[in-house]
Amino acid sequence: MIDLRSSSVEETHTIAAAIAGLVRPRDMVLLVGEMGAGKTAFATGFAKALGVHGDDHVSSPTFTLVHSHTSGRIPLHHADLYRLTSLAEVADLGIRELLDMGAVGLVEWGDVASEVLGDGLSVTLEADDEDEDVRLITVAVDGHAWDTRWEMLKNALRSWTLR
Ligand SMILES: Nc1ncnc2c1ncn2[C@@H]1O[C@H](COP(=O)(O)OP(=O)(O)OP(=O)(O)O)[C@@H](O)[C@H]1O
Ligand SMILES: [Mg+2]
Repeated sequence: MIDLRSSSVEETHTIAAAIAGLVRPRDMVLLVGEMGAGKTAFATGFAKALGVHGDDHVSSPTFTLVHSHTSGRIPLHHADLYRLTSLAEVADLGIRELLDMGAVGLVEWGDVASEVLGDGLSVTLEADDEDEDVRLITVAVDGHAWDTRWEMLKNALRSWTLR
């Protein structure tokens, strides 16, 4: 697990960009945290770092469920499970299948369906009681996909790591 502190939305964008720099096709990234925690903010920084164009812009996918961005270095599928009520509905979105075709997945509220979504990185954002611009961000991994990249990831995130 890697524990980070972000002190602004811009810093969350930069942290997301550092992670995006190490992703590969078929990676799943679950975004975890309450409403307003910064999941969509993370997604915005992540997409930009993958090279997604401004006119292919990242917004909250709450109403369309999956937004696909194909203008970056790897196709990105950004989903929000907030409105879904069953694991079957999540499975029907077919996100894993999209990743199998060589894309990266970014799923808001992904923790509720990790058994359907499979292994990957999880990024948990938590607000801070004292400062409304601070977020505590925890990066964790399920499975082995990051085994050979974990040290690089730690290095890339060193500036924001809590110790
Ligand atoms: N350090 C920070 N990191 C991320 N967002 C921050 C930070 N500080 C303040 N904010 C603000 O918090 C809000 C985060 O909103 P965002 O839509 O990203 O949350 P969300 O987790 O996607 O919520 P929802 O579950 O409603 O989709 C934004 O208004 C952003 O400007
Ligand atoms: Mg959101």
